[in-house]
Amino acid sequence: MPDPKINLVLRLARQEDAGLLLQWRNDADTRHNSFHSQPIAWSDHLRWLRETLEDKETDLYIAERNGLPVGTVKVQRTGNSTELSWTVSPEQRGKGIGKQMVRQLARQISGTLVARIKPANNASVAIAKYIGMRRSVSSDGMLLFIRGQDESRSGENNGHEQS
Ligand SMILES: CC(C)(COP(=O)(O)OP(=O)(O)OC[C@H]1O[C@@H](n2cnc3c(N)ncnc32)[C@H](O)[C@@H]1OP(=O)(O)O)[C@@H](O)C(=O)NCCC(=O)NCCS
Repeated sequence: MPDPKINLVLRLARQEDAGLLLQWRNDADTRHNSFHSQPIAWSDHLRWLRETLEDKETDLYIAERNGLPVGTVKVQRTGNSTELSWTVSPEQRGKGIGKQMVRQLARQISGTLVARIKPANNASVAIAKYIGMRRSVSSDGMLLFIRGQDESRSGENNGHEQS
């Protein structure tokens, strides 16, 4: 059940969010849990943000709680599925915000949802399960979580594992 005490407003990110997003992206835990773990330079980040905001297949959201930005979710449509990735502001972690934020976003999306999560990222695994995703085949050392039609797609285990 959603926590009624956590009231989040999701809005689209803007170029002015660049500083905040880089701070969150370069945080040690975020880097540890990201596919690319090296720190991102400001100029590379600005270019990434500009391209992301222009990309019609990608929506980047900022979650706000009482007007304060507390997290971000990237929604990337590829083919017939939608990939979600998320980060919570370092000071706001462990309060249920990640679960609520991703749930709120996932409820707006129909069709197949996927997320790639590092195996040791227990909090993100819990979030993926909370929104009804199931663990599927792994790729590139990441766990693949899927909700929706593509759950049956085959791979090294010829299907998903329950965990
Ligand atoms: C992963 C992250 C988004 C989780 O957000 P959060 O707001 O801290 O998570 P929540 O408080 O909603 O907790 C989600 C679940 O993880 C658990 N959890 C929270 N912090 C945890 C931790 N450090 N270790 C293990 N489990 C943890 C919670 O108990 C909860 O599980 P439960 O429902 O079974 O009790 C946040 O820690 C983060 O931004 N980390 C760095 C970036 C990152 O990892 N991004 C995701 C890449 S896939």
